[in-house]
Amino acid sequence: MVKTNLGWDGSSGDPAAIEPSEWFQAQANINQSDIRTSFNQSWPECWTEAADLLDWNTVYETILDDSNPPFYRWFPDGELNACYNCIDRHVDADNVAIEWIGNLGKTRSYTYSELYDEVNALAAALSNLGVSEDDVVTIYLPVVPELPIAMLACARIGAPHSVVFAGFSADALATRLDAASSEYLITCDGFYRRGDAINQKRRVDDALLQVDHSVDETIVVDRLGDEYPHALHDNEHDYERLIDSFTGTEVNPVSRSAEDMLFLMYTSGTTGKPKGVRHSTGGYLAQTAWTTQAVLDLDSSDTIWTAADIGWITGHSYTVYGPLALGATTVLYEGAPDTPDREHIESVIDEYDINVFYTSATAIRSMMKRHPPDTDYDLSSIRLLGTVGEPIGSDAWHWYRQTFGDGETPVVDTWWQTETGSIMISTLPGVDTMKPGAAGPPLPGNDIQVVDPDGNPVDTGQAGYLTVNRPWPSMARTVHGGDDRFIEEYWQRFSDPDTDTWAYFTGDGAQYDDEGYIRLLGRVDDVINVSSRRLRTVEIESQILDIEGVTETAVVGGRDEAGRTVVFAYVTTEQDRKIDKEHIREQVKQGIQDAVGELAHPGQVIITPDLPKTRSGKIMRRLLEDISNDNEYGDTSALRNPEIVGEIESALSEK
Ligand code: WT7
Repeated sequence: MVKTNLGWDGSSGDPAAIEPSEWFQAQANINQSDIRTSFNQSWPECWTEAADLLDWNTVYETILDDSNPPFYRWFPDGELNACYNCIDRHVDADNVAIEWIGNLGKTRSYTYSELYDEVNALAAALSNLGVSEDDVVTIYLPVVPELPIAMLACARIGAPHSVVFAGFSADALATRLDAASSEYLITCDGFYRRGDAINQKRRVDDALLQVDHSVDETIVVDRLGDEYPHALHDNEHDYERLIDSFTGTEVNPVSRSAEDMLFLMYTSGTTGKPKGVRHSTGGYLAQTAWTTQAVLDLDSSDTIWTAADIGWITGHSYTVYGPLALGATTVLYEGAPDTPDREHIESVIDEYDINVFYTSATAIRSMMKRHPPDTDYDLSSIRLLGTVGEPIGSDAWHWYRQTFGDGETPVVDTWWQTETGSIMISTLPGVDTMKPGAAGPPLPGNDIQVVDPDGNPVDTGQAGYLTVNRPWPSMARTVHGGDDRFIEEYWQRFSDPDTDTWAYFTGDGAQYDDEGYIRLLGRVDDVINVSSRRLRTVEIESQILDIEGVTETAVVGGRDEAGRTVVFAYVTTEQDRKIDKEHIREQVKQGIQDAVGELAHPGQVIITPDLPKTRSGKIMRRLLEDISNDNEYGDTSALRNPEIVGEIESALSEK
């Protein structure tokens, strides 16, 4: 096929731009160069293209109900079941659904019909334990096959799931169980982390002592085996025994309204505690499947490896729901996605013939820093590479494409968030010119703007706030238990109900270039992205301030020697007592670990006599950020204590 349009509204004038190759375009799922125009002209009907990828029990008549913004409803009179769409309809083709690569050399593989059997057995067991439609089931598991199986079993019976990242502390689990009034928990005895056995069950026991309500039933997966026996209380059930007793039982997939909640996902906000973002069944699954097909170019015959923890939105959308909705094979990789042993990554790609590899910019940067390219493995199965989570600089972009894609495959730099549910900004790999360093134009159907503080679009080349100015199917419906908070966090700032103008604020800074490509400039609030997860600095700071002997602290995101963003915690301690600084340092590290989850890198703790402050006493975070990232920083004479900069620098260089 010959390409008729070189990129986004005409050919690119940017010398660094790279055209997609003809072989890729010829086979791409989307290669109509006018797709953005046609989506715009037929909006919101264009989104039936996404909904048509799904099987509906009751076909919707309404596409978008926008009568009560910002509480938009998509396909509201339609009914479907997400589990049916991800499993039942693919059973006949009987592809492999899941390839699991566990720690310590364990692997397992599930065809769609094997997945069907186990999900049905678990769904029957859940119902038998009393789980009914709309009960929130909390899942606290590492990346083992039982995690997606549990998600899908919940979806089958219409019980929304809330997956809590397995590396989180007992406190974090308890907060999330309480916030969702969740009475059912699926967890495990423990798991391996870099060869060590972690006792997950003990954390669960701790969490259950802390919750305000009662957790009625707990299902425990035996991940560690006989070597580490664990005791079960009366209302705790062994996963395997349950599956055995319900094997062969089929459970009808419940017909859910498209607007019914599929899952909750907790993420940090700008105010208060972590918030449970609520995702819908129809709109979420439709747009997730569509972007998997359009941006990740996935077909049912493909194998995709989205190297991200399923405890985060990336894993929900592009390890589980998107690939399975399309009937493809998805790879699950246990262990920390941000500390991959690069050789292992290459051997997995080689052995499993990965066609689409999608991972975080952080992981790419750390792979790049640690290893020279290695050609022992055959990576030729790779057709497309994707990156997410942070801006990827042009060097890392080229290294990624060269190393994993032989300098040939397209790379998609995908911008999105927990709240958007699916990818929002990216090039379409079969259509658009790539520009390393810029994510791309908005995907078809999206109206995305860069605005000034008053909400007016700024000129191209100017930095501003990134907003989404039109609803989209996979958008978060609300924040669990907090419609007001949903409005406050995301809509208030740039919307004007008087003129019926609604704009969703992303929290990111960005700029457009002349060709409609968006360059992301990072968060504009006190939120940092560590190991592809979002953290509010004040949450970590308040934990640190609770430590005895600590007087002040400022937390910023900085780069470690492997190029990853990690937490840099600057701490001052009481002066006049004999303070055990090492002890404080250990406690601060523990506090950070509780916040970021123990699979992430803890970062650095810098104990300093003072923090850089303005004359009015405000901590200069920006300066700390520059110091932590080895960036140039300007004149520090406006500081009340400019001498502290040198002291901090030398404290850092000692590390
Ligand atoms: C924040 C969302 C959704 C995937 C993982 C993180 C940043 C995401 C990109 C990108 C530059 C990016 C933004 C965004 N981000 N993708 N391609 N280029 N920045 O999900 O925890 O909800 O974080 O990640 O700052 O707001 P999340």
